[in-house]
Amino acid sequence: MRGDYSSAFENSPRTERKSQKGLIGFVRKLITLRHEQGKRHSPEELVGTELILLDEVKTKVRERADDPGADPVVLLDFGGMVSMSMVRIAKALSKEIESGEVAVVSSSLKFQPDEFLSSNSDISFTFYHDADVEKFYRENHHRVHFVNGDASTLRDVSIDVPNVGQISLNKHIDIIHEESVLIHGRKNEIDIPRLGNILADKGILFLGTSEKQINMSYPRPRDRSDATVLGRENLSEVGMTPRADIEAEQRKRYFVYQKQ
Ligand SMILES: C[S@@+](CC[C@H](N)C(=O)[O-])C[C@H]1O[C@@H](n2cnc3c(N)ncnc32)[C@H](O)[C@@H]1O
Repeated sequence: MRGDYSSAFENSPRTERKSQKGLIGFVRKLITLRHEQGKRHSPEELVGTELILLDEVKTKVRERADDPGADPVVLLDFGGMVSMSMVRIAKALSKEIESGEVAVVSSSLKFQPDEFLSSNSDISFTFYHDADVEKFYRENHHRVHFVNGDASTLRDVSIDVPNVGQISLNKHIDIIHEESVLIHGRKNEIDIPRLGNILADKGILFLGTSEKQINMSYPRPRDRSDATVLGRENLSEVGMTPRADIEAEQRKRYFVYQKQ
């Protein structure tokens, strides 16, 4: 596989500070969230990509329905932070989550919803602009597993699934969703195939970060957008190919790959 493995982008305090500097991008996302909320009739209504992710999870649940020993279907929001969309999806899948058929996970370098909910930061102020959304989040975030880790460490993380027990995320993740995370990445040529590597067989990867976004960010956008293109090419070396059907639907928003 091409790329430099020697100094992988890890979970360092410097990294975390840099990601805090991505605050402007995050606030932009919150504005988008507000805009999207305008299209919803309630905080729990699913729209856009949320419906596509839900559909992919349900397809995998159906495929495993006849196998009592099958692994739970695991959906990971890589760098999800608040992961409002995952909380919505988890609410829609409450029954399957309680039975252990599905687990929804959100990873961050350093984020836990309880700290967020009890803080008076500007971020939470923006988020809480809508009391109904805040109430929905408070009542439903427990359905999602919030874990800390990056592309190199998530394989060492386990979650506790009802009726199943502890499962390692390594090779047990069925769907990974990424948005506004790899835009900060310094080693996307390595981190993108690492995400492919921790997926289970037939796992699906939704990459939301585009070169266009990286080119508007800093530092060294050219290097990092080249690394991102290389990272997607490197996915073939962990057995992943583009999923043209989903890509057609979400072409403007995601690069979608599936393991063979
Ligand atoms: C701007 S927030 C994006 C949140 C969410 N995905 C969204 O679109 O609203 C960035 C998130 O990515 C995580 N993050 C940043 N760099 C990362 C890296 N190299 N590896 C893993 N997670 C990272 C941060 O901890 C944070 O949770």
